[in-house]
Amino acid sequence: MKHKIAPSLLAADFLNLQRDVEMINKSDADWLHLDIMDGVFVPNISFGFPVLEALKPVCRKPMDVHLMIVEPQKFIPEVAATGAYMMNVHYEACTHLHRTVGAIKEAGMKAAVTLNPHTPICLLEDILQDLDMVLLMSVNPGYGGQKFIEHSVDKTARLKDMILAKGLDTLIEVDGGVNMQTAKRLVEVGADVLVAGSFVFRSPDPLQTIRELKEL
Ligand code: DX5
Ligand code: ZN
Repeated sequence: MKHKIAPSLLAADFLNLQRDVEMINKSDADWLHLDIMDGVFVPNISFGFPVLEALKPVCRKPMDVHLMIVEPQKFIPEVAATGAYMMNVHYEACTHLHRTVGAIKEAGMKAAVTLNPHTPICLLEDILQDLDMVLLMSVNPGYGGQKFIEHSVDKTARLKDMILAKGLDTLIEVDGGVNMQTAKRLVEVGADVLVAGSFVFRSPDPLQTIRELKEL
């Protein structure tokens, strides 16, 4: 299966969100990645559910919502109400992860668990069979435009082996510091979805950049 591209709205022009989402609609992007931060789980605050609600009638790509917040299970109804396709919760933020994953699916969304760079994939051993996707952070979450953590390539390869060894078809998404070079290496070792923020939105021709990331 061809890999998917999910541009991250965090790097868009917040004064022209509708324009940027319409650009994504026209592009070869597969999903739109939306980063919600709370200033507690991560040292930054981005945007919240009212912004997603406002984008709902405009956005024609499936919404991939990445919650960088404590107690994400409290907001499952709010995320579902935005029409989100995928809800990502951090492993590090969920004490009762199995219950949370079940509740996300019951609310009609796909369920993904996100790992910070230091969190080992072996911790997914007893939950992987219940997940639609694992999101590997290849930077410390909280900011766009950071440097790719090299170790993420090896981590992606090992997660792919783990998924295949279990006979599963769980997707692997990688988020942070994705550019043409890192994207190529990640796809080679089994990444299924690539998030790209600044590389897409800071490029002179975002439509062309998305096309090139897709054609890798
Ligand atoms: C970081 C966010 C990312 C961010 C990626 O905390 O989860 O989705 O937008 O930005 P780039 O692609 O610029 O590293
Ligand atoms: Zn993200």
